[in-house]
Amino acid sequence: MSALIKMEQLRAECAGCLRCALSDGRTNLVFGTGNPQAEVMLIGEGPGEQEDLQGIPFVGPAGKLLDTMLELIDLDREKVYIANIVKCRPPHNRDPRDEEIEACRPWLEEQISAVSPKIIVCLGRIAACSLIRKDFRITREHGEWFTAGGSVCTAVYHPSALLRDPEKRPEAFEDLRAIRAKIKELCVRTYDSVSTSHASL
Ligand code: URA
Repeated sequence: MSALIKMEQLRAECAGCLRCALSDGRTNLVFGTGNPQAEVMLIGEGPGEQEDLQGIPFVGPAGKLLDTMLELIDLDREKVYIANIVKCRPPHNRDPRDEEIEACRPWLEEQISAVSPKIIVCLGRIAACSLIRKDFRITREHGEWFTAGGSVCTAVYHPSALLRDPEKRPEAFEDLRAIRAKIKELCVRTYDSVSTSHASL
């Protein structure tokens, strides 16, 4: 079955999910977006207000910065697949709880298995702690390389953290450059037709 069909089947199944209490408050499921055949998958934390209203990941202020980060390394939403650790918005944008992350994990695992990405980029601490190692330290370990779910995996600062603390941006820029190099090393299709970026962080 193609990754596209598999992903649409999963989305339809997930739309009725009642596995944790976050489903009580959802306006829309925020399942994922982008190219299910991508070689690069980005995984954030969970939907915020705008995402919940629109049903699309990273459409609020952090999403605008994420688009710029992608542009910096000649990527866009059509060249990657973007999902979150939890698919429904935690109230008041609090961190998702362990039991919510565990309840949602099978959906994410199915997504990762459908995409079968060469590279996974965790956006922020929560994604890194759920996918790489429970005690992952984002300030120390961002930009390092690991394996997770059969893919080469790294973590970068969450775009919201970069909005709150612009001093982290040079480090994030270095991580992005390393990700670009790793994509060139491991991925054959992602940079097939690149246009050079004019973005700045
Ligand atoms: N932050 C996230 O981690 N995910 C989103 O979809 C939006 C903001």
